[in-house]
Amino acid sequence: MITNPIIIDLPKILDPRGNLSFVEDNNQIPFKISRTYWIYDVPGGEIRGGHAYKSLQEFIVALSGSFDVVLNDGKQEHCYHLNRSYYGLYVPKMYWRSMQNFSTNSVAIVVADKVYDENEYIRDFNEFKNLVV
Ligand code: TYD
Repeated sequence: MITNPIIIDLPKILDPRGNLSFVEDNNQIPFKISRTYWIYDVPGGEIRGGHAYKSLQEFIVALSGSFDVVLNDGKQEHCYHLNRSYYGLYVPKMYWRSMQNFSTNSVAIVVADKVYDENEYIRDFNEFKNLVV
């Protein structure tokens, strides 16, 4: 079982007609996909996220353009720059995550192991810190 954030390289089927990559349940990523959402049309300078999930896991890919995913485990912070559609960032449960520095026309696709449930969210950083230490 993977418990740390990790960049995962995806299969890349090179083709003169255009390249193709994919993710499958419990194969490239360590969970079964229940939900897919995407973030787009982000105005310059905006920050998305700013929360943690109690038990939800995610995998984030920059389908177009680039952005940074900042992960904080309550002690340390690490910034992952995503800018290709053939790799992504696995985000385990209980990491405070923000997404920022979106380039113009960037698109983030996120697959998650649970359907949307507001009860999964921790939206207060102090509450998060108290839970992880
Ligand atoms: P939120 O997860 O807070 O956005 P972000 O982390 O990117 O800043 O979600 C913003 C709003 O969208 C929130 O009111 C709930 C809604 N939402 C859904 O209805 N379904 C979803 O799958 C997601 C991710 C959000």
